[in-house]
Amino acid sequence: MRPFLKWAGGKYRLLERIKAALPPGQRLVEPFAGSGALFLNSDYPAYLLADTNGDLINLYQHLQRDGERFITECRSFFRPEMNERAAYYAQREQFNQTRDRRQKAALFLYLNKHGYNGLCRYNSRGQFNVPFGRYKQAYFPEMEMRFFVDRCGRATFNQAGYVETMAAALPGDVVYCDPPYQALSKTANFTSYSRTPFGWGEQEHLAALARQLAARGIPVLISNHDTPEIRELYAGAEISQFTVQRSISCDGSNRNRVGELLALFQ
Ligand SMILES: C[S@@+](CC[C@H](N)C(=O)[O-])C[C@H]1O[C@@H](n2cnc3c(N)ncnc32)[C@H](O)[C@@H]1O
Repeated sequence: MRPFLKWAGGKYRLLERIKAALPPGQRLVEPFAGSGALFLNSDYPAYLLADTNGDLINLYQHLQRDGERFITECRSFFRPEMNERAAYYAQREQFNQTRDRRQKAALFLYLNKHGYNGLCRYNSRGQFNVPFGRYKQAYFPEMEMRFFVDRCGRATFNQAGYVETMAAALPGDVVYCDPPYQALSKTANFTSYSRTPFGWGEQEHLAALARQLAARGIPVLISNHDTPEIRELYAGAEISQFTVQRSISCDGSNRNRVGELLALFQ
């Protein structure tokens, strides 16, 4: 099942590889949950899904709490007149102004499906600033949302940074980390999912935390670009590598095949 949100770095196409590399466990912990592709397409008894993006987690929590009623509310934003430039910017403004968390959750879905390329980007004041997407028609992901709701019973959603989430992992858990990838060039940082950048310091810290958890018997699988620096960073982990076709190219100039890897610390 495809995730109901468009999300840069979504792992839908890599699911089989990730599942093949992940050990079994009592609970799957995802510190970088994003659109939840693995959550939707795996079968662990329980899930801890966390992300720093509070708008994303707020949407998941409303869906979990109110299921069908919330889906109905979201549907009202998918009328043809809402897929017009002026309407989009008015809703975007409303999203940035409102303090009503429920309305904000529904608007986040609206913006994801009507904004440019499904991007999620904020300015330095934390305001969502993705331009209008100019789609002929916006797709309301009703079936995908229902599927998500059906699986929510075994999930806990948490707005948190990866350090906090990894600290919450317990023996019996399995951790899958899909961080923002190592930047391949200075201009490659097109995906700012949140206001806090994910730089080399964070890549190092994440690898160190993965080693610490593995030493406590908690396996950690991490996705990243396959580069010499990343291989050195993950030294000692079991590496599997492959190439993938990127749907959103890093520098906008071409759609290169980029090497990726999965590193298993255990
Ligand atoms: C590559 S995406 C994950 C994609 C996800 N696996 C999917 O299938 O959609 C990376 C995610 O990390 C989140 N993120 C960025 N910095 C973070 C941090 N410091 N701690 C936790 N999550 C973070 C972003 O909001 C984004 O959702």
